Amino acid sequence: MSLSELLSAVRARPLPQHVAVIMDGNGRWAKARGLPRTEGHRQGALVVERLTRFVGEERLFPYLTVFAFSTENWGRPKEELEFLFALLDGFIRDKLGELAARGVRLRVLGAVDRLPASLRRTLAAAVEETKGNDALHLSVALNFGGRWEIVEGVKRAMAMAREGKATALSEDAFRKLLPTAELPDPDLIIRSGGEQRLSNFFLWGAAYAELYFTPTLWPDFDEEALLRAIHDFQGRKRNFGQVTA
Ligand code: FPP
Repeated sequence: MSLSELLSAVRARPLPQHVAVIMDGNGRWAKARGLPRTEGHRQGALVVERLTRFVGEERLFPYLTVFAFSTENWGRPKEELEFLFALLDGFIRDKLGELAARGVRLRVLGAVDRLPASLRRTLAAAVEETKGNDALHLSVALNFGGRWEIVEGVKRAMAMAREGKATALSEDAFRKLLPTAELPDPDLIIRSGGEQRLSNFFLWGAAYAELYFTPTLWPDFDEEALLRAIHDFQGRKRNFGQVTA
């Protein structure tokens, strides 16, 4: 199927609302070419740019979340961390005008207080500038972890209890306390790079997500790869634990 045939096929069936992506394989992509790992991240950022443009222009789905840095990624060499933070800072600064013009609303998910102050300022300004947009909700998970998210929710519940504002805790009530409360649960979680695990990405929200794993390394992941993932998703039977037959 050509890209346009694939696009028509995907458009003919119900689309996901929220697609979340674990962008893995940048290091291996670079190594295979004799390049420094950082070059893989640079290419990976270009993929984010391309896909954001594609999803926005085609109005494929309204929520796209990318896992840019996990709570476990601090274990990487200092130079790689500095490169990643500078890359993100540069990406947001360079692309903010285009993102805003395209109606993208940027959100950051994660414990941002540990990030470099300059990156925090760039992110805060971009989040503020785009907060009125709703053509595409692009969330960047940065120093994010599914366990971190649940603990944040628990902390908020405990704070409310201390303030005497506790109400009976239900799944719905707890969900509203999570840092991802403004986003719908991901319908589809894509992981590139061949590993088949969630690696502490969405946990609460992943309860009924369809998981799609591809050996394609993130810098090679393109519009066609995204459409193939959605096409695969559309062939799944989602019954959320109920009987549909
Ligand atoms: C995993 O590949 C990738 C990362 C930890 C970083 C992902 C970050 C980007 C693509 C930067 C751009 C993000 C935005 C929002 C512009 P890896 O290094 O673990 O690869 P490997 O498994 O092959 O070593």
